[in-house]
Amino acid sequence: MKIKFIAIVSFLAFCFAIHPQTDVQTEKRIKEVIKKMTLPEKVGLLHGNSKFYTSGIARLGIPEWALSDGPHGVRAEMNRNNWKYAGWTNDSSTCFPPGTAMAATWNLDLTRQRGYVLGEEARFRKKDVLLGPGINIIRSPLCGRNFEYMSEDPFLISQLTVAYIKALQTKDVAASVKHFLGNNQEENRTSIDVNISERALREIYLPGFKAAVMDAGALTVMGAYNKFRGEWCTENNYLGRTLLRDEFHFKGVYMTDWNAAHSTEKAALAGLDLEMGTSKDDYNDWYFANPLINAVKEGRLKESLVDEKVANILRVMFKTKMFNTKSREKGSINTKEHQQVAYRSAVEAIVLLKNEKELLPLNTNELKSIAVIGDNATRKHCGGGLSSEIKTLYEITPLQALTQKFGSNLKINFAQGYKKQSSFFEDSNKGQLNTDSVDWKLIDEAVAQAKKSDVAIIFAGLNHDFDTESFDRIHARLPYGQAQLIQEVTKANPKTIVVIIAGSPLELSSIAYRVPALVWAWYGGMEAGNAVIDVLTGKEFPSGKLPFTMPVSVDQSPAHALGNFPGRDLKTNYEENILVGYRWYDTKNIQSLFPFGYGLSYTTFSLTNALTDKKDYEKKDQITVTVTVKNTGKRAGAEVIQLYSSQTKCSVLRPTKELKAFQKVFLQAGEEKTISLKVSVTDLAFYSEKTNCWIVEPGEFVLHVATSANNIHSSLLITANS
Ligand code: BGC
Repeated sequence: MKIKFIAIVSFLAFCFAIHPQTDVQTEKRIKEVIKKMTLPEKVGLLHGNSKFYTSGIARLGIPEWALSDGPHGVRAEMNRNNWKYAGWTNDSSTCFPPGTAMAATWNLDLTRQRGYVLGEEARFRKKDVLLGPGINIIRSPLCGRNFEYMSEDPFLISQLTVAYIKALQTKDVAASVKHFLGNNQEENRTSIDVNISERALREIYLPGFKAAVMDAGALTVMGAYNKFRGEWCTENNYLGRTLLRDEFHFKGVYMTDWNAAHSTEKAALAGLDLEMGTSKDDYNDWYFANPLINAVKEGRLKESLVDEKVANILRVMFKTKMFNTKSREKGSINTKEHQQVAYRSAVEAIVLLKNEKELLPLNTNELKSIAVIGDNATRKHCGGGLSSEIKTLYEITPLQALTQKFGSNLKINFAQGYKKQSSFFEDSNKGQLNTDSVDWKLIDEAVAQAKKSDVAIIFAGLNHDFDTESFDRIHARLPYGQAQLIQEVTKANPKTIVVIIAGSPLELSSIAYRVPALVWAWYGGMEAGNAVIDVLTGKEFPSGKLPFTMPVSVDQSPAHALGNFPGRDLKTNYEENILVGYRWYDTKNIQSLFPFGYGLSYTTFSLTNALTDKKDYEKKDQITVTVTVKNTGKRAGAEVIQLYSSQTKCSVLRPTKELKAFQKVFLQAGEEKTISLKVSVTDLAFYSEKTNCWIVEPGEFVLHVATSANNIHSSLLITANS
């Protein structure tokens, strides 16, 4: 038996050694292998046989498939048959700042590097599929999973997603882009019916998935828990067949989210390939196990449908070189290089929101003492958030980093300032209730430390009791009496810097007006402390830009303003339609606290000579916009140049602005660069619900060269002809 197994493995390896992995060769091999399988063997490939594995077929040399969470690190090993960790001692991994922080870097090269690292670490851990990236649109500030997702803007999401997936998959690991589609809230995520207009679907919610499949070649897609237009995503013919297979030509594996399968026949016909996480103890009872075998035996489903699914699985296995183990990426884990990428990712994510009188960067040579205040100065976050939680090799907190870097020269006066009053309950946000009490004793201690220090830094914000999978936040205020703490400390020491550690929008107006310096540092992954201290003290500079609008209050934001979050009677209708995020604020003329794309620097920039290469364009043309960016200050820095389009007259409502291109430019003091941004005329289209296709209505368009959605430097008028 063993000899036969080795012979088959060698045969498969041989085929792939001599044949390049052309599709023709792969398809031929897939057909041959399928012919040798029995129906139960085929079906065995289509459902989990444990929490994160599927069975292989030993006699045919098909190995088991190992899947693992998640988007910002490789999750620690779980037990095969329950949700507890396996307790391994060799499964810690590099932990990156989560999705919104990745988006805040606006740096595709860094995103690529993250993809390579994750791929290498996943391979080292012998994983075949890494579940992520999570790319649902940030529709409401309150969605618990915003921190894991990326942005409110489909273009930014698409660019990052493509960079991440392409890089990851070069390491012979399949990405699983999730959650397809409309998992934009956690409340009732397993029962809510999401209704999105066709135009909003095409313009806002679909582009990231389309780019993941068509531009990055994502090998797997994860179907969301919710219903979409009345049908579960995992058995929704429009999602699984019409869009994924017919329009996007997806040839990979469409899998369920964990426990998101609801049927055998309907799901099978709608294009689902793989059932994972179903909460029935006997794996044989799962929808894509014995019930699928019976459906074929009883003639309710054709065996060719099963073959199609098996082919999708095998295709991904071939593409990730599972039958060519010699040339497959071996991977590496926790290397210094990986940690350096995590560090850079944390540094470049940091957004400087306010910096009066150039309080930052701190000149540590002139300081004698610093008050460090707040629970988030000492709290570690990598291990939270539920499925994306990471058992990291280490995590540096801000206080640790400051002490290690400056402890011998500076007096560091620490005070906790506020206490974490929340707790985490799976599937319920009740741990967030009653978490607003003000602890005046802690505040008094903090005030005393602030008074006797040259400057005070408050590490405030949230933690993963709030930013988490499984439920939404109940409000967007700072919990635990932090507003009072900040107010009192700022009174005691006017040189107070507030650093927010959080992954999704917060209501910060009262704080933003009160404090001289405000920094958004996200959950910074394993290098969080080093990154934030290096930025605050000027070893590094802040260059992040907000990937979402920071509202003054939640009820300004579209889903809330229109009263359709989190929905009624388990239905939610996205009435704001295409006006999501800054598209809403701009078009409705609503003043946010900080706009999308916003972030300051320690230096200043000038943008000059913004030009388009022509004035009149045909439909097939590409528009090139050039602009000269100069660092006019005294320090190095980076600016993210953003290009937004608007159409002056159109037969349908269009958002005032839509992001079409961006580039992050790094400049030494005094340095200048001329950059070009490219937009195809077809990218200026809107999706017409009348004709069910993308239309560029001829006429005038304006291209805005900007450094945030509200900070426009030049507006260039062009004409698009039909
Ligand atoms: C989450 C997925 C995750 C899966 C496996 C689900 O609860 O929604 O994002 O990949 O669990 O842990």
